[in-house]
Amino acid sequence: MRFYNRERELNYLKTYCQLEPNSILFVYGPKSSGKSTVMRRVIKELDGSNVVFFYYNLRKYATYSKEEFLRIFFEKSDKKYLLNKLELNLGVCKFGIEENFDFNSLYLNDVFAKINESINAVVEEGKKPVLIIDELQKLKNIYFNSGKSLLNELFNLFVSLTKMEHLCHVICLTSDTLFIEEIHRNSTLENASKYYLIDWLRKESIKRILKEEGFNEKEIDYCLNYLSLPYEIVDLIENKKLGLSVEETIRQWINIEADKLKYIIDTSNLNEDEIYNILSKLKDNIKVDYKKEVKKEEMKYIKFLIEREVLFYDVVNGIIKPTSLKKWYAIKEILE
Ligand SMILES: Nc1ncnc2c1ncn2[C@@H]1O[C@H](COP(=O)(O)OP(=O)(O)OP(=O)(O)O)[C@@H](O)[C@H]1O
Ligand SMILES: [Mg+2]
Repeated sequence: MRFYNRERELNYLKTYCQLEPNSILFVYGPKSSGKSTVMRRVIKELDGSNVVFFYYNLRKYATYSKEEFLRIFFEKSDKKYLLNKLELNLGVCKFGIEENFDFNSLYLNDVFAKINESINAVVEEGKKPVLIIDELQKLKNIYFNSGKSLLNELFNLFVSLTKMEHLCHVICLTSDTLFIEEIHRNSTLENASKYYLIDWLRKESIKRILKEEGFNEKEIDYCLNYLSLPYEIVDLIENKKLGLSVEETIRQWINIEADKLKYIIDTSNLNEDEIYNILSKLKDNIKVDYKKEVKKEEMKYIKFLIEREVLFYDVVNGIIKPTSLKKWYAIKEILE
């Protein structure tokens, strides 16, 4: 699988991992923008450096209970930390925990003490620990012994590891934009977190990739109006090999997206006129300024469209836009 240019993002994240830890980093962006892929690439490119990655991709697991969380994050071992066997090709680590620990009767403080021990073991060896959690929002509804929310307590631990002790980087990725909005409002994280947007591919990058992939000027000019996500390029190349022109592939995408969108609206319990009203804000503009253009009573419909991954809310920059360019054309189509 080819990896397409994400030079700027790679440089940012690679440099970030080498700096002294000062805050929690939240990596966010539209659905399928390539957040996870870039992060894995960073890990690969820093292989052989003195950075030790603790990397957990929660998309891979059902994480609904305390026990599941513990089994994913820890491995019984006499070592404080060890290679994560489920991610062997990445060479990332997992926290170690003694054989005799009973996962069923662990208190949150024991868990945090173990994480601290593992991280300190890395630091004592003169290396830099970096903890990465992909799809962090999956830990949202897990509660420990006295009803404590795992995620809220984890945030306290993360603030301590980064902002206070400067021991370990904590990088959290999420595809759930409304979750980023919650985080942004969370007072524990105020002045203790940073946000990094991995957005659509830039036009110049798309142009260069398509050129390298053998598309002609005419095809490239046409595609530039519609392409925004890396996997779309992959699909375009594949379809070209299968005998479909770029126009045909893009027509198909927009048809599928427009159908999906109409279905989402037709099957929702919300007032459809209100939903269309929100979408019509995007008829002539690709983005909406949250502060200036959104009324309180409209937020319900916007949230619905964000949940359904029609819209992307960039809470840091205060804008709302479609999750991809092809989605924008689909929106315009159903407005006609
Ligand atoms: N730079 C890239 N080069 C080539 N393919 C890429 C690149 N970035 C992402 N992809 C492809 O695009 C798809 C989505 O990427 P990825 O899962 O990394 O996105 P994401 O932002 O993490 O998505 P989600 O919002 O669902 O978490 C994958 O099939 C991946 O292989
Ligand atoms: Mg992802």
